[in-house]
Amino acid sequence: MRCLAREEARVTVVMTRAAEQFISRLTFGALSGNRVHGDMFADDPAGIMAHITLSREADCVLIAPATAQTIARLAHGMADDLLSATVLAADIPVVLCPAMNTNMLRHPATRDNLERLRGIGYTVIEPASGTLACGEVGAGRMPGWDLVRETLLALFADQDLEGRRILITAGPTREPLDPVRYLSNRSSGRMGYALARTARRRGGEVRLVTGPVSLSDPPGVEVIRVTTAQEMRDAVLALAGSVDIIVGAAAVADFRPRSCRELKIKKSGADPCIELEPNPDIMAELGRSRRSGQLLVGFAAESHDHEQEGRRKLEEKNLDLVVVNDILGSRTGFDVETNQVTLLTARDRRQLPLLSKEATADRIWDRVVELGRGSG
Ligand code: PMT
Repeated sequence: MRCLAREEARVTVVMTRAAEQFISRLTFGALSGNRVHGDMFADDPAGIMAHITLSREADCVLIAPATAQTIARLAHGMADDLLSATVLAADIPVVLCPAMNTNMLRHPATRDNLERLRGIGYTVIEPASGTLACGEVGAGRMPGWDLVRETLLALFADQDLEGRRILITAGPTREPLDPVRYLSNRSSGRMGYALARTARRRGGEVRLVTGPVSLSDPPGVEVIRVTTAQEMRDAVLALAGSVDIIVGAAAVADFRPRSCRELKIKKSGADPCIELEPNPDIMAELGRSRRSGQLLVGFAAESHDHEQEGRRKLEEKNLDLVVVNDILGSRTGFDVETNQVTLLTARDRRQLPLLSKEATADRIWDRVVELGRGSG
């Protein structure tokens, strides 16, 4: 409830009698800021046609948690309470989060009911596993909000990346210096992870090759973890031949120490001198060996000469689109929630406003979709 409110969703709660055994209407009323509905024929401003009114005013129905009883009612088209009547009357997406004891979840009757609901076109989110309300341990917990959020957002996203195989790099790389130290940078991975989330939401088949970050895996995205630039290059090149779109959002180290010391460098004697050698340039290598029809998108992390440097990288690396971002801004570039980018192609430039990295990612995908349609 709180998570939905944080996303500025307008929530109207319909409670079953069983739900009211666990939590009061007052609580949900306070959290949602709206009247809570429960009885089909109670004195209700929505009138005795509450199930019609409610189903017409909503964009989707989220049943969380969905008990075995409610699942059975819905699977058999019953309408003997306000929730089941509203769902039956609704012609909007319905998402269920089954939550119950593991044996109940695995019971053939429940499984059949869930299969029927999937067949109707309802979305059933797989329960999580762990300690259940009854104290037992197993499948049957409510799924995490992140998965529910992505499922809901995907309902309303244009599936314009449907079926596109997408590979994204994110985060920093770490170039070892000795058993304790490494060279790296301030990339948090947020930009790359936002690209992965939004691409998945829009129907893409997404793989994410990420350096070390402290972000949770985006739901529905295959995550491949690497540490060094060489490992990132090897992981990307292994997948490059089988994807349609590659986006290099990672802050790949251009250089690495020529040798990684076996023992910790000590603070004794003369100042240590670190000899560096170049790392592979992943996007440039992809640009040289790109598959026909493949779309390559790079980023340019610049502190000055932004557009000139962006264009240089667009041409030198043989890319289709470069996303230029200023790394000196307090709300752009590394390790912040927002970004302000310029999209450069061989034909044009588009300056975006300051947006969240998720909104920036969506605008980048909008441009990629245009390029993919040849309407560059
Ligand atoms: O992760 P965040 O904290 O959200 O920060 C986001 C970001 C600033 C890291 C991101 O928006 C960004 O700018 N990523 C690219 C950083 C970078 O390495 O830029 P560059 O101008 O040095 O590299 C140009 C392009 O070549 C990039 O696509 C980069 O991934 C790629 N590259 C660079 C070096 C290298 N050895 N191999 C590469 O493929």
